Amino acid sequence: MGEKRASLGGRLSAVLVAAGSAVGLGNIWRFPYVAGENGGGAFLAIYIGCILLLGIPVLLAEFTVGRHTHKNAVGAYRSLAKRWSFLGYNSAISSLLILGFYFVVSGWTLEYFTSSVSGAIAEYTSSTINAERFAAFTTDPMRPVIYTIIFALLTHVIIALGVQKGIERSSKMLMPVLFIMLIILAVRAVTMPNGLEGLRFLFTPDFSKVSAKTFLDAMGQAFFSLSIGLGCMITYSSYFSDKTNLQNTAYNVVALDTLVAILAGMVIFPVVFSVGIEPTSGPSLVFVTLPSIFNTMAFGPLWSTIFFLLLVFAALTSTISLHEVLTAYLHEEWHMSRKVAAWIVTIVTTLLACASSLSLGVWSDFKICGLNIFDSLDFVTANILLPLGGFFTSIFAGWVLDREILRDEISDHGRLKGRLFGLLVVLLRYVCPILLLSIFLYNMGLFRL
Ligand code: PFF
Repeated sequence: MGEKRASLGGRLSAVLVAAGSAVGLGNIWRFPYVAGENGGGAFLAIYIGCILLLGIPVLLAEFTVGRHTHKNAVGAYRSLAKRWSFLGYNSAISSLLILGFYFVVSGWTLEYFTSSVSGAIAEYTSSTINAERFAAFTTDPMRPVIYTIIFALLTHVIIALGVQKGIERSSKMLMPVLFIMLIILAVRAVTMPNGLEGLRFLFTPDFSKVSAKTFLDAMGQAFFSLSIGLGCMITYSSYFSDKTNLQNTAYNVVALDTLVAILAGMVIFPVVFSVGIEPTSGPSLVFVTLPSIFNTMAFGPLWSTIFFLLLVFAALTSTISLHEVLTAYLHEEWHMSRKVAAWIVTIVTTLLACASSLSLGVWSDFKICGLNIFDSLDFVTANILLPLGGFFTSIFAGWVLDREILRDEISDHGRLKGRLFGLLVVLLRYVCPILLLSIFLYNMGLFRL
């Protein structure tokens, strides 16, 4: 494995791989509906606050742990401080649970891609029809399960092939196209009747809509979107070369990720207000709004084919990063061959994802704390495990990890000078733990202001 790591670290551009993991369904599917449920503008403001105060420090802490040890998340913590290995296990469990619902939504994007290619999407002519079709599809006991399995196998093939050739090269070409497509769609969306209402909803903060849950949701969304709090970035940065500039990489990843989320909001909300859907309509939001916008455009099915292909791709670069966390762990810690490790991960995550797909339809009566399997996997990971992972990661980096290791990694082995390091230490030691813990405890109802 040592040699493989070296070659991966040497050839992959760090920004590209990390951004591939960060930019995904979290930006285009999850961000708009979570923002929609939390009043829009105020959510965006709090979200950006979370990215700056919590996201960047935790991302840099994970990069430090990964690049310094060149190990999977469990191995990394074990080699730095044995008692902190539990953070590595949190990483493995969270990745497994996230894949349990992420594969399902990725499967939906694949179905929308195939309906675009066949031209069937041209029949999605009104938001009512779109919503009905979406509900009929996602609650079906067969079709979404099949798409989920296909998507999991696609992820498996790439993991088995190695990441360099397929994903690295194609993401270099496709990510910029995704960006351009989002800009084109945003322009189209804004010029639809009532479109500007949507921009107002996204950019005008109405703090009267803010509750404690808004902070929890914004924090969870920030961690989910940046792929932090679960050691995914530890695993990826363990492949970085020693020449990689960690600070620049982190800033670029955060900027790209946030921009894609905002652009997605600029596409979705104008359409929401134009065709009269509720911004609070939850996980169906993107799948109902996007066909509506394509149907106002000449060559609609062509545009939607390109768009859903890009979405499939964005999802894939994220599923492989989650899969890699688990595969690297089994391969390195359990000494399995990479092939066997990859198969075990694929089989277990696919079974969980199938159950979570069925929980939207035939198994919807089965509830855990009032939520079906799909929703509980999403809630437990984004709102509990990732922020808790972020809390312990910041304590670890701020208080336990040798300060010289942190300084050496963050300052690019002493080459980068500046006062930012001091600020980072303050954020990691005090700001992140206090904020993360208080938002968390407040939402668990453990204290009241
Ligand atoms: N960041 C990805 C997204 O926004 O879609 C999802 C994700 C990938 C979360 C990898 C966590 C992770 F470790």
